[in-house]
Amino acid sequence: MPYAADVVPAPVSLRTDGEALALRDGARIAADPDLRDAARWWRRASEDAFGLDLVPTGPSDPDADVTFGVDTSLPADGYRVTVADGGGHAVVRVAAGAAAGAHAAAQTLRQLAGPQAFRRAGRAALALPVVTVDDAPRFGWRGVLLDVARHFLPKADVLRFVDLAAAHHLNVLQLHLTDDQGWRIEVERYPRLTEVGSWRHESGVGTWRAERYDGRPHGGCYTRDDLREIVAYARERGVTVVPEIGSPGHVQALLTAYPELAARPGTHEVRTTWGISEDVIDPSDAAVDFFAGVLDEVCEVFDSPFVALGGDEVPTTAWRERPDIVARAAGLGLVGPDGEGDVARLHGWFLARLAEHLRSKGRRAVVWDEAFGPDLPRDVVVTCWRGHAVAADALAAGHDVVMAPEQQVYLDHRAADGDDEPVPVGFVRTVADVRAFEPLPAGLLEARPELAGDLPGTVLGAQAQLWSEHLDSARRVDYAAFPRLAAFAEAVWNPAAPGFDERLRDGHLARLDAAGVEYRPLDGPRPWQQRPGVAGWPRDLGAERAAAGWAGMGGWVEGRDGAEPGERPGRG
Ligand code: ACM
Repeated sequence: MPYAADVVPAPVSLRTDGEALALRDGARIAADPDLRDAARWWRRASEDAFGLDLVPTGPSDPDADVTFGVDTSLPADGYRVTVADGGGHAVVRVAAGAAAGAHAAAQTLRQLAGPQAFRRAGRAALALPVVTVDDAPRFGWRGVLLDVARHFLPKADVLRFVDLAAAHHLNVLQLHLTDDQGWRIEVERYPRLTEVGSWRHESGVGTWRAERYDGRPHGGCYTRDDLREIVAYARERGVTVVPEIGSPGHVQALLTAYPELAARPGTHEVRTTWGISEDVIDPSDAAVDFFAGVLDEVCEVFDSPFVALGGDEVPTTAWRERPDIVARAAGLGLVGPDGEGDVARLHGWFLARLAEHLRSKGRRAVVWDEAFGPDLPRDVVVTCWRGHAVAADALAAGHDVVMAPEQQVYLDHRAADGDDEPVPVGFVRTVADVRAFEPLPAGLLEARPELAGDLPGTVLGAQAQLWSEHLDSARRVDYAAFPRLAAFAEAVWNPAAPGFDERLRDGHLARLDAAGVEYRPLDGPRPWQQRPGVAGWPRDLGAERAAAGWAGMGGWVEGRDGAEPGERPGRG
């Protein structure tokens, strides 16, 4: 049975003697009502790929060949799959703690059926190994961020990406919907956000330092119905879509549409270059109300318990230029009469207002780690991207955190050291590097022994990032994401599993091929995957580690990084 042992991410336990049995055409499939989405998804995927019919039947049909049942002794995201001999044909039993486990079980079943199961049509026997799989993940938050702001990704490509994330048991898709270079979500009460803010007249080519532009308009946005469809599609596959609406920085597209919200008066332009903008929100009551209105609509469209508010890379130059904003910070008690505190605290203050608004709607805010500080409410989740040390501080302060260190899980960073990598930015992150990702590495635990103790905050899990300054199409997203996202998935599902390289090479790449994924071949890019002559901005992880240790040097830090904004952005 060639594929039985090649499941990615590897299950905690998989026992098979290699015998395979076909599932009968017309086999009856029964599902507990709570697990219907997973059962239906697997039935449809199998029907399409193998050209057979599986017949839904009542949950207590004793003759069902395939059953999806709840077993409350299992963790909510855990499952057991058995495939047994029903008299010359396969009988499949899925037991899951809850819907999350059933989704993972359905994906494992598809992998067990071989690469053909990843095709959308065909005629072949659906053969499954006689097997018992017992499985549950290490982390509850197994996320991937997709940046659809820097480059818009058409809806069909987002749906396809959801399929690929779900195929790897990833269960959070953070959709980065707004940034300086584009606003991608339709908001009914502020139509100019997409009318004006969703397109730019041209784009930078390669690192912004090269000052090269393509002269070609770029844009696109999702309607509310598009996003509702994405949310429903993801939910049916066990994936929660966490929308990200960034502020008080990364808002130049918004300010182009509504310049009255800008800290710097005057006209603005949807940003055509990468790096960090000094154009930030004036953190006024009007701006809080504006964003509250946006978030109200976001909460109508997205059912996620979490809503991300951005909060990274916020230069305060424009605030300091405005005496009324400085006075406002003082009036709010953020700058004391003795000079204690700083205008920069408006950053945390502003996000705290939005987090409270979300809380009043039953949602939890998620922010990037620059927003961590005294003004951030403790129920806000902190996504740690600049390094590991900030995670230790946030956990100690009582925040739940998601580990997303750019040193390890930024998949837009180059996959190898070669000159042929397309637009090589950031650190070298090979498949092996990503597979070795450990959210709480031993060295960090040594440096910060309190992490091993009973801290008030919890590590919810980890997240891989696909920033899209240099990923301008689904093909480029495929290249950056795969197969490294499979390695990440295993690191957060079952890090102790041996043999990833062999399972990837001998089993999983064939699945990605069948699914039509244009991944990076293990021996380097194909000629058409290269971008000769387009400059990146490689960084040296060893040198930065030596200089900054667990703190990392990522992110732009005002005052540290020179006079020019964006002089040290996290990406090229
Ligand atoms: C980030 O990479 N600026 C979160």
